Amino acid sequence: MAWELKKTVVMVGMMGAGKTAVGTQLARMLDVPFLDSDEEIEKAANMTIAEIFARDGEPFFRLKETQVLARLLAGKPCVLSTGGGAFLSEKNQGLISACGVAVWLRADLELLWNRVRHRSTRPLLRTENPRATLAALYEARVPEYAKADIAVDADPSYSVEQMAEKVIEA
Ligand code: S3P
Repeated sequence: MAWELKKTVVMVGMMGAGKTAVGTQLARMLDVPFLDSDEEIEKAANMTIAEIFARDGEPFFRLKETQVLARLLAGKPCVLSTGGGAFLSEKNQGLISACGVAVWLRADLELLWNRVRHRSTRPLLRTENPRATLAALYEARVPEYAKADIAVDADPSYSVEQMAEKVIEA
């Protein structure tokens, strides 16, 4: 019988950890579909994440995020990349653990900052001191990410392929 993925592999962790890049590669290697919750939110709203934050605010975005997670997790097992805030609420953690395996891509703050500093697409980092904002988010979120089923360290010397292999091994 052909190999079959039983549960959705849900990539969680901070912005810049590589959830989408590693998740895309992982899906390729496992031969399952890849989905991205941010992308699905944008498609459903026909707006970018930044536009949703600007027009409707973060609480509305979080509501949409939960709805999209519930919908995607009810579908066939796949690799699902989530936004950095998706694994923080008890509700989302419950949805994810019911149908998926949460994989925390754990990266240190320096690596995250180096990856996000030149991109202005993330509304939460549009502050006077985005580095300090990232550090505060990091500190507040790590205890929640630590509730994931598996933690895999993001190694900056690894290729995306090597990172995806590391996830499979874990
Ligand atoms: C967010 C991270 C973003 C996106 C939104 C909020 C967060 O996704 O969902 O801007 O709260 O950390 P990425 O982690 O893919 O950047």
